[in-house]
Amino acid sequence: MARAKKSYVCSNCGAIHGRWQGKCEDCGGWNCITEEVPQTSGAPKGLSGKKGRIIEITGLDTPAEDTPRLKTGIDEFDRALGGGLVKASAVLIGGDPGIGKSTILLQAMGKLALTGVDCLYISGEEATAQIQMRAERLGLTGAPLKLATATNLRDILTTLDSGNPPRVVVIDSIQTLYADHVESAPGTVSQVRICANELISYAKRKGTIVLLVGHVTKDGQIAGPRVLEHMVDTVLYFEGDRGHQFRILRAVKNRFGGTDEIGVFEMTGAGLSEVPNPSALFLSDRNSREPGSAVLAGMEGSRPVLLEIQALVARSSAANPRRAVVGWDSGRLAMVLAVLDQRAGLGLAGCDIYLNVAGGLKVSEPAADLAVAAALISSLAQVPVPDETVVFGEISLSGDIRSVSQAGARMKEAEKLGFSGAMMPSSQKLAGSSALSQQSMARVTELVDFFLPGGLS
Ligand code: TYD
Ligand code: MG
Repeated sequence: MARAKKSYVCSNCGAIHGRWQGKCEDCGGWNCITEEVPQTSGAPKGLSGKKGRIIEITGLDTPAEDTPRLKTGIDEFDRALGGGLVKASAVLIGGDPGIGKSTILLQAMGKLALTGVDCLYISGEEATAQIQMRAERLGLTGAPLKLATATNLRDILTTLDSGNPPRVVVIDSIQTLYADHVESAPGTVSQVRICANELISYAKRKGTIVLLVGHVTKDGQIAGPRVLEHMVDTVLYFEGDRGHQFRILRAVKNRFGGTDEIGVFEMTGAGLSEVPNPSALFLSDRNSREPGSAVLAGMEGSRPVLLEIQALVARSSAANPRRAVVGWDSGRLAMVLAVLDQRAGLGLAGCDIYLNVAGGLKVSEPAADLAVAAALISSLAQVPVPDETVVFGEISLSGDIRSVSQAGARMKEAEKLGFSGAMMPSSQKLAGSSALSQQSMARVTELVDFFLPGGLS
C-alpha cells in the first residue's frame, strides 16, 4: 500500500508546502510550518455518472422569515457586528490570549439569556466552576445561560442534536476542540478547519448562531484563526494592549455589515464596560499646551473618533537615529519624514523620533498623515499646536495635502467635543457649514511655515 504523503502546513495562513522549511513563503512567518498526515480515505474521485439532488432556486425577493438581527444588548458589540447577530451565521472572535474574548462573550450571552434567548456557552479552556466565578464577578449569576465544558467535537454535535437547537452557541475556543476521526493534535490547521467546518454547517442547517473564539499566537504553535477567516461570515478582532484599559473590537470581515466598524470597551474590575463616546475618553488626559501633541480627527468605520498623536523629536549624533512608533505604521512614518525633509528641508533624517498614538489605539487611515506631521514639526519647533484645534489630511509624496473622506463628520465630532478650529486640506474647505475656524493648507510647506515662520534657526 502506498504510504500517505506528508504535507507541511503553515499554521498561520494555511499554505501547504512540499517540504519542511523555516519560513513560510506565503505569509512570511517563521517557524510556523508543521507536519501533517493527510487523511487517507478522502482522496477525491470523479463524480461518475451518479446524479445528485436537484437544488432549490429562488429569487432575490424572497422575504426573510424572521427578525434578521438578534441584538445582544451590548451596543458596542452590536455595532461591531453591524447591528446585531444574524440568524444561522458564524462569527469568529480573534485576539491575543488574555485580551478579553471570553469576558465579552460571557457578558453578551448572559445579557441575551436574561432576555429569554436560549444560549449555550461551551468552554474547552476553563472549568465550569471558573466560569461561574467569572459570571459572579460580572454580576450575571441570575442569568439562565447554559454552560458546558467539552473538547470533543463529536460530543458537542451529539449534544446539540439531542434537543432543540439553541439560538446561540459559543465555542471557547476553536483551538481546544478536536475531531476524533482526524489524526492530528488539537490546534493544528486540519483540526481547526474540520471542527469549524462542522460547526458552521450545523449553524446553517439549524439556524443557530455560532460564535467561535480563536487565539492569535505570535509563535504560530497553535493554528492562527486566519485560516478560518474565509469560512465564517463575520470576523471580529479584539485589539488593545494589556497595559491599557481600552479594548477595541474591530470588524475585519462582515458579510452582513460594514467592515472597520469598531466597538470600544474599557476593562474594569467588573468586566468590560462600554465606551459610547471614545473621543472624550481618549482625550481626557491631554495637556494641549505641550509641543509635540496634535489631535487627529479620525474615522473608524462610520464613526468619527478624536485621538491624540504625540511626537518627540530630538537631534541625534548616532549614525542610525532611533525610530520608535506605537499605534501607527512605521513605513508610513518614514514616508512622511521623507516628504518633510525633501519638500520642506526640515532635516529630520538626523533626529531620533518617537511617535505614539495615545490610548493604545491603532490608526491606519492616511488622514492621520497631517496630524503626524503637525505633531513632529510642533515638537521640532517647540511650538504647540494651537489650542482646541483638530488636524486631518493625507500627505502625498509630492508634498501636497490631499482631501480625505467624510470631512463633515470629522468636523462635527470636533465641534461636539468643544474644539474650535481645524487644520485641513484646502480642497475641503466647507463654506459656512461648520462653526470651526478652518486653517486650510494645500502643501506641507504651509504647515512648516505655520510652526516655523522664520524657518529653522
Ligand atoms: P479573558 O476574557 O479571559 O481573555 P481571553 O478569553 O481573550 O483569553 O480576559 C482575561 C483578562 O481580563 C485577565 O487578564 C483579567 C481581566 N479581567 C478584568 O480585568 N476584569 C474582569 O472583570 C474580568 C472577568 C477579567
Ligand atoms: Mg478565554
